Amino acid sequence: MSAKIIDGKKVSLSVRERLKKETETFKKETGVTPGLAVVLVGNDPASAVYVRNKHRACEEIGFYSEVYELPEDTKEDEVLSLLARLNGDPKIHGILVQLPLPKQIDPDKVILSIKPEKDVDAFHPENVGRIMLGNYHFLPCTPAGVMTLLDAYGIDPAGKDCVVVGRSNIVGKPQALLLLEKNATVTVCHSRTADLASHTKRADIIVVAVGKPRFLKADMVKPGAVVIDVGINRLPDGKLCGDADFEPISEIASAITPVPGGVGPMTITMLMKNTLTAAKESVR
Ligand code: GUN
Repeated sequence: MSAKIIDGKKVSLSVRERLKKETETFKKETGVTPGLAVVLVGNDPASAVYVRNKHRACEEIGFYSEVYELPEDTKEDEVLSLLARLNGDPKIHGILVQLPLPKQIDPDKVILSIKPEKDVDAFHPENVGRIMLGNYHFLPCTPAGVMTLLDAYGIDPAGKDCVVVGRSNIVGKPQALLLLEKNATVTVCHSRTADLASHTKRADIIVVAVGKPRFLKADMVKPGAVVIDVGINRLPDGKLCGDADFEPISEIASAITPVPGGVGPMTITMLMKNTLTAAKESVR
């Protein structure tokens, strides 16, 4: 093994320590406690774990938090009226509706009905537009976590060839914009890309977010490249694995994120950061 392991747990802990201190100071100065509301609809077991972890992180940092666990057959109108109430609740500075949603609920409608100032996922078109223009309050949690990890390990994307594999609205597209903002040369690859390996083999930094276990193989990676693995896949034996084939790639890459313990812990930490930012903006 030659690659440096990019330790998301460690970086996450140190960012959370800093956020905890900032939160204490903010509460003392303003008398305001940052508040996050998390809405979960349905019984997706992975989503339930994420929501529980988000709640726990809020308690650790000193936020107020509310969790709404609604049944699978909840009607769209009920979700929209809950969001209308949360939009108007002064105790709540951030609102997150866990995705995916059951099929009777249109995620676009849900995202549009969260006030942009409280949209700590940065999924609302106003916030997406702000990111496009480089004039934002919040960054989407997963790509922001990736950028924070690169920074913590002194990996500067400027002038580098960066390949993002995956073009989702949650990860791939915003990730490409954030790398571009840091002056990388960015290529976005996806399921219709011809000869994917010809792109990934040129990359200095690869961010893979496709949701397929061990999709990125060692022969698709240039020796010395940095590999950031956003995937969290559950194997039939119950173990977690990423989108990158970790063991063989770690023989040739210069640095790689493990799964679990890489990008995952950073995502919730960035959510906490966004919630504190939303609370600060609310008193400005
Ligand atoms: N489901 C998977 N990732 C996310 C995320 O970052 N935010 C929300 N709301 N749901 C998700």
